[in-house]
Amino acid sequence: MTHSVTPFTSRIVGCGSYLPARAVSNEELARTVDTSDDWIVERSGIRQRYFAAEGELTSDLAVAAARRALDMAGVAADEVDLVVVATATPDNTFPATATKVQAKLGITQGAAFDVQAVCTGFIYALAVADSFLRVGQHRCALVIGAETFSRILDWTDRGTCVLFGDGAGAVVLRAEPSRPGAPGLLGSRLRADGRHYDLLYVDGGPSSTGTAGALRMQGREVFRHAVANLASVVVEILAEQGFAVADLDWLVPHQANLRILAGTAKKLGLAPEKVVVTVDRHANTSAASVPLALDTAVRDGRIRPGQLILLEGMGGGLTWGGCLARW
Ligand code: ACO
Repeated sequence: MTHSVTPFTSRIVGCGSYLPARAVSNEELARTVDTSDDWIVERSGIRQRYFAAEGELTSDLAVAAARRALDMAGVAADEVDLVVVATATPDNTFPATATKVQAKLGITQGAAFDVQAVCTGFIYALAVADSFLRVGQHRCALVIGAETFSRILDWTDRGTCVLFGDGAGAVVLRAEPSRPGAPGLLGSRLRADGRHYDLLYVDGGPSSTGTAGALRMQGREVFRHAVANLASVVVEILAEQGFAVADLDWLVPHQANLRILAGTAKKLGLAPEKVVVTVDRHANTSAASVPLALDTAVRDGRIRPGQLILLEGMGGGLTWGGCLARW
């Protein structure tokens, strides 16, 4: 969708992230799972992940990331009138984790809800919040990706349990009057193809088994779809906004697997050094991975004002999509 006709532009004015205290190396995992550091690094690029402490919930991670984003933005919590949490691992089946986050931050105005698009969740949430802000329905949003995937892993399935971690990332999105060339979100594209539901899913839920269930994945098939879908959505968004791949300063992708990141960059003809990579340290944190990677590259000074950045992701559903921003 193009963003030329609305009175406001939404702009990311702050970001923040949070990782639980406990880092777990591949070697540590290999003590209880039939795997090795070599296998995990070679197939995924992952060297460690973080696991939430007992009693530490998705909402706790989300609140910690949100506070850091508000701090960077210099925005007080009571200015926020929209809280959107992207998560596939909510504290409870209902209400939305966003309402708990809203309450913990002391926000009493506006709306709060969750968005569920698994690893594409943050991209979906950002696009939804952007739509609300651009038409003037809300003025200031917290968009958060937060997950505790360690709670839905099957520790006897070595093909999946080594790939995921816990974490959260957040951005503060503010509506500003539209003017040409100003910083802000320029466009987004969301896609889904539910025919591939069974390639990556959790085998439980309130309506099916009455249990939380565990993650199931056909890794090779997911891999096959990932590179093709991600490369095409990036090209579509850029073309829609009149840009070429060479105009991009940074690609901030969902961090599933180093081979997917490298494959996507290669297919796009994008220099690998323009891709923000955190999967080695964070593993796949689902909806948290894009804002975690964004926050990393903003705080270490790589992403700078005026640059063109593209956030993208793909996950269960299958879902995929991207958002283009002028920083
Ligand atoms: N340690 C050691 N050996 C393992 C492990 C492990 N953790 N897991 C699997 N193996 C073995 C298998 O048993 C198999 O052995 P066999 O040949 O004796 O039968 C062998 O390794 C190959 O297994 P495959 O599953 O075929 O391995 P593949 O090369 O496909 O790699 C992987 C698996 C890493 C999951 C890959 O398919 C992948 O990256 N897929 C993308 C999926 C992904 O990243 N999903 C994240 C969520 S979706 C998203 O975020 C986009």
